[in-house]
Amino acid sequence: MCGIFGYIGKSEAVPFIVEGLKKLEYRGYDSAGVATYEHGRIFVSKCEGKIAELEELLTDKPIGGEMGIGHTRWATHGSPSDVNSHPHTSCDGKIALVHNGIIENYLELRRKLSEEGHKFKSTTDTEVIVHLVEKYYKGDLEKAMRQALQEVTGSYAIAAICEQEPGKIVCARKGSPLIVGLSDNEAFISSDIPAIIKYTSKVIYLEDEEVATIQRKKIQISTLDGKPVKRKPTLISWDPESAEKGGYAHFMLKEIHEQPGAIRKTIAHRVNVDSAKVHFDELNLEPKEIRHFNRIIFTACGTSWHAALVGEYLMERYAKIPVEVEYAAEFRYREPIVDDKTLLIAVSQSGETADTLGAVWEAKARGAKVISICNVVGSSLARESHGVIYTDAGPEIGVASTKAFTTQLAVIYLLTVLFGQVRKTLPQAKAIQMINNLMEIPDKMERVLAKEADVEKLSEKFYNSTNALYLGRGKGFPVALEGALKLKEVSYIHAEGYPAAEMKHGPIALIDKNMPVVVLAMHGRRYDKILGNIEEVKARGGIVIAIASEGDQMVKEKADEIIYIPASTEAVSPMLAVVPLQLFAYYIAVKRGCHVDQPRNLAKSVTVE
Ligand code: AGP
Repeated sequence: MCGIFGYIGKSEAVPFIVEGLKKLEYRGYDSAGVATYEHGRIFVSKCEGKIAELEELLTDKPIGGEMGIGHTRWATHGSPSDVNSHPHTSCDGKIALVHNGIIENYLELRRKLSEEGHKFKSTTDTEVIVHLVEKYYKGDLEKAMRQALQEVTGSYAIAAICEQEPGKIVCARKGSPLIVGLSDNEAFISSDIPAIIKYTSKVIYLEDEEVATIQRKKIQISTLDGKPVKRKPTLISWDPESAEKGGYAHFMLKEIHEQPGAIRKTIAHRVNVDSAKVHFDELNLEPKEIRHFNRIIFTACGTSWHAALVGEYLMERYAKIPVEVEYAAEFRYREPIVDDKTLLIAVSQSGETADTLGAVWEAKARGAKVISICNVVGSSLARESHGVIYTDAGPEIGVASTKAFTTQLAVIYLLTVLFGQVRKTLPQAKAIQMINNLMEIPDKMERVLAKEADVEKLSEKFYNSTNALYLGRGKGFPVALEGALKLKEVSYIHAEGYPAAEMKHGPIALIDKNMPVVVLAMHGRRYDKILGNIEEVKARGGIVIAIASEGDQMVKEKADEIIYIPASTEAVSPMLAVVPLQLFAYYIAVKRGCHVDQPRNLAKSVTVE
């Protein structure tokens, strides 16, 4: 997704902006640019390619000034090119603007503006905004921005500067995040927190359909129709270090290793181990409401959807409530049957995924109660939900989601215990046992991480594979899906996750000596059946890599390769079993020379449909 960074203060803007854009690289992009104001003029420097190319451009032709805006572009409308990169400028070059989002009615606006004499340089949707602002500009940039946005449909996070109003950055947002960082005598704007956390922890979140004028010492917020808005700053608890690599080769590896600590932090203040009492500060659900619901719908995308799938198995088994798990984009456009007895649980690391937000709006419109499980405080999803449970994973920079996934699982597990207790479907003794099982996970996870070298060695044998199959049963099935997603998104090897029982209904035709088959074979109610599946793969010459419970000899005899994980109950096993699969995908991607933290074509947060 695109990234926006802006600076206004007492120092040269370009160094701050370039540094800020580098912190936004993980969001995925294909071009970058900067615009500054100096000595009465707007200067623009932009190009297709990575920020390194932009830096070369800025070295050849520096641009100065203490106010500026920058952008990393993830192409939606208009291919990656110098002319399509942002910032875009008005016909007279006096206004520069950057945008994250999609302007859905841009063709109609472009036609009208062209008829009125505006000359377009790019094929992007964004450029219509700067020409609209130019059309309405009569000396007040904020007012012109508001008038322009009245004509726009779609999503946007926008920042603009103009020659006639030095010392002001005007921003606006709808459906794409934009944060203002406040420091003494300088201010920052950014698409997300990691880019500004090193300068300030005092931030203001713009809400949808708000416009803000940012000056060095002042920020004024108003609604699209001009009503003033008062908004108190939020203090971010993340430490700047957490947004750095900390000595690891990649953010993905760092975040894999952060998982035990992230889980400890996520569960620490939410459960009383002796009484198994679970409490979430911002859940905003009364016990009578929890008893009132007759179904739960989980909705999410990607890895978060896999966490939701584990939630289905847990909630139905322990809280005895019917659960469905919906892909957000499918749910929102399907005219779903939803009412006040439905609880929708949205799961999202970023809290900005457009389809997940859309699903929430649809469910709310149909009368459902909505809670979200999210990793970013104050994100759009958190603010759109009736209640929120934050995972305390800290900033997840690597595009491939890892610690967000396991902390989501920990939250869903705790929520299951809470629901089971409130709905009286979970005996107290069982609840206490479940809480104790969860408390053991971080230490057990550290034992799995200690096998990193074994997994790296294993990746040596398979990094030239062209396909892979991941099989699991029960809660091993969502883990199989997640393992396959990790491999395909960071190493570009085609990988599929499948319910192991389904193999005979098709995928078994794929089995040959070139197809590595990863099997989740931990002890549990379906263990004997999964052993049978391993036999079926072996009988057809397939190669089996098994994730098995420590001490298991039977799997060892049948599989070609084995990675042991500490024995645990089925309910918590996904948190352990996924770790070797994360490391396997990581080391294969590294050996294939892939861009692990910013895989091609992918974005960390998909804020467009
Ligand atoms: C996971 O590794 C991917 N980066 C992707 O599937 C991601 O989980 C998905 O885009 C959802 O993102 P969210 O959790 O921020 O909503």
